[in-house]
Amino acid sequence: MKDVYIMAIESSCDETSIAIVKNGIEVEALSVSTQMKTHAVFGGVVPEIASRMHTENFTFVLEDCLNKSSIGMDRIDAIAVTYKPGLLGSLLVGVEFAKTLAYVYHKPLIKVNHLIGHIYANALENELKFPLLALVVSGGHTELVIMEDDYKFKTLGATLDDAIGEAYDKVARVLNIPYPGGPGVDHLASLGKNTYQLPKPVLDESYNFSYSGLKSSIINLVHNENQRGNEINQADLACSFQTTAIDELCRKLEIALRNTGIREVIVAGGVSANKYLRSEIAKTCEKYKANLSVPKLLYCTDNAAMIGAAAYPLYLKKEFADFNLNPESQANIG
Ligand code: KG4
Ligand code: ZN
Repeated sequence: MKDVYIMAIESSCDETSIAIVKNGIEVEALSVSTQMKTHAVFGGVVPEIASRMHTENFTFVLEDCLNKSSIGMDRIDAIAVTYKPGLLGSLLVGVEFAKTLAYVYHKPLIKVNHLIGHIYANALENELKFPLLALVVSGGHTELVIMEDDYKFKTLGATLDDAIGEAYDKVARVLNIPYPGGPGVDHLASLGKNTYQLPKPVLDESYNFSYSGLKSSIINLVHNENQRGNEINQADLACSFQTTAIDELCRKLEIALRNTGIREVIVAGGVSANKYLRSEIAKTCEKYKANLSVPKLLYCTDNAAMIGAAAYPLYLKKEFADFNLNPESQANIG
């Protein structure tokens, strides 16, 4: 079969990204333009600014991606785009940009779920072996799913309230760590000890998660100590939070490993960049002799290469979108 080159477009939040991916596994070129510094001033992503910046960035990102590649537009087989979930205005810019390219260059259009994109980031490094357990941990989602085959998902559990990434970002804010908070908390936690007694998220045997109680307890603790004029050991608090949050992920993964007998595990989403998560999940998998795949750091956070990987099985099935495609802000896996 001849090689398939997919040009993929991602703009669900504050990264404008375009990639060319060969056969769903090889990154021919990747360009990512982040708006992080702009939004850091506001302590979080400002949706209107994000969509306006995507509009300004896309043509430059396309030029950069094509410059990095030996593949020209004539050799591209399809245009893939993230259409859900994310910030509506940001998604809209990407979807319209993708439609324009597909129309002008006469290419089929493929719509991709961003969360499934995070899962397929793993295909860029290791062959996905089914059935597998996928732990999806991002700014908006915390889900544990069984993937039985390409695009065949069975959700075991999800967060009942906040996502783990949301908890990281809010804890960062109360500790005055600049946006995006996750990497800052990760670093600070590595300097501290697990000394604070914090409420455990969900003490049951279900596959569901809950992070709002843990998040609120830290916000309250910091406010109370500040009001009393007591000093907080920021590194110890970050470490205590991180240990509690990640240990719960490992505990739920362990229940799934025990109950399902599946021995292939992948981790996906921005929080999979976390150092403690990567080492603790590896220990859990080792205990059950399960194979673990975690994307390299570049593919953990938002990027278009993962969208190209997730689009490939859809290309093979000829599951193409039409020009009525509209973005959707909410979505789960599957
Ligand atoms: O997947 P992602 O880039 O965007 C969404 O699809 O939501 O994930 C972003 C989330 C943010 O909450 C960010 O703070 C978190 O991933 N994150 C981390 C780390 N790097 C990014 N959380 C913990 N430790 C990190 N090293
Ligand atoms: Zn993401």
